[in-house]
Amino acid sequence: MRVLVIGSGAREHALVEALRRDPGVTAIAAAPGNPGIGQVAEVRAVDPAGADAVVGLARDFAADLVVIGPEVPLVLGIADAVRAAGIACFGPSAAAARIEGSKAFAKDVMAAAGVRTAHSEVVDHPGELDAALDRFGPTWVVKDDGLAAGKGVVVTTDRSAARDHGAELLEQGHPVLLESFLDGPEVSLFCLVDGETVVPLLPAQDHKRVGDGDTGPNTGGMGAYTPLPWLPPETVTEIVDDVVKPVAAEMVRRGVPFSGLLYAGLAIGQAGPAVVEFNCRFGDPETQAVLALLDSPLGALLHATATGTLAQAQPPVWKDGAAITVVLAAENYPGRPRTGDVISGAEGTPASGPGANAEVLHAGTSLRADGALLSAGGRVLNVVATGADLAEARANAYERIAGIKLPGSHFRTDIGLAAVEDRISLPTRV
Ligand code: GLY
Repeated sequence: MRVLVIGSGAREHALVEALRRDPGVTAIAAAPGNPGIGQVAEVRAVDPAGADAVVGLARDFAADLVVIGPEVPLVLGIADAVRAAGIACFGPSAAAARIEGSKAFAKDVMAAAGVRTAHSEVVDHPGELDAALDRFGPTWVVKDDGLAAGKGVVVTTDRSAARDHGAELLEQGHPVLLESFLDGPEVSLFCLVDGETVVPLLPAQDHKRVGDGDTGPNTGGMGAYTPLPWLPPETVTEIVDDVVKPVAAEMVRRGVPFSGLLYAGLAIGQAGPAVVEFNCRFGDPETQAVLALLDSPLGALLHATATGTLAQAQPPVWKDGAAITVVLAAENYPGRPRTGDVISGAEGTPASGPGANAEVLHAGTSLRADGALLSAGGRVLNVVATGADLAEARANAYERIAGIKLPGSHFRTDIGLAAVEDRISLPTRV
């Protein structure tokens, strides 16, 4: 199978690495890819949001499967264009990708499917904002109704910060979604979905705030770990049966079946799992950790999903142990990140010792003419490490990241720490 991966981040680098481990995958290309992907696969400078360019590349590469990583091309209908060209594509149609592209649409689907989620209101006009804020909070949850790479969300007890964010979004012409705050530990559950067939992957937890101890502004994600030692397997079953399957069935009922990766972001509260958000693609940085533990051929799973044969596919098998992603971010991220600095120490994997269980994935990098690796984005690199348990995976990741030098860069030192220290517990059900 020849596979074309669309995207350029660490999630796509992880997908490429996992596809390389699939003996059924004979060739991999990525567009536009990144310098890390370029070391192991062919990369082509094609705009992921350009339907003609992506279809042209898929034909030129003779792709048997196109895997679309990011949400923007999905919302723009690139998967529809690839399928219309007769090529199997992993990723939902534009109509189904609205589950991420419009939070109001997602709320409507959840209401119809009877799925628990935060109470919400959409605000379209600045004149409605104050009265709406008074009906919510504290704590206020103010979201951009459209796509915002994780940075459109402000969760705050400060009413003026909530108001400023809402007003700024409205000024930019973006409808604002106000939500009641959902309490409880957060879980990201990724499910392969083909119509009404739902196959969950390992549950993971993201760390969205920039600073240790969940401080500072929201980011696209500063790190993740899997599995979750504090989450009983029955809760994963409950999420699949009471959240993901009803939503998949409702999408089928509406004539917009979901095909691809449905990402349920949940808070596990006193009343059980409640949905914080749905995304229409693999999450970043959770995917990097989840795929590090996959012991099944990824290409076969994605192809089965894309071709409507998931129900007949072998379910995924997982390695024992734990995996963790730690994101190395550029100075000033998640504001305007500093770019163009030389990175050293990212190359190579030690043959033995703790670093041997860690790999470096590229997220926002570029190559200078002389071959030097430069920072080129907010999230620059990911270190993904495995271990017999989460404590060992953490030790391996932090050992490896300590050897990487990038001026002004920062990373969280507490990814997975609360779980290792047994500080996460599920609330008693009421
Ligand atoms: N982990 C957050 C996201 O992928 O949106």
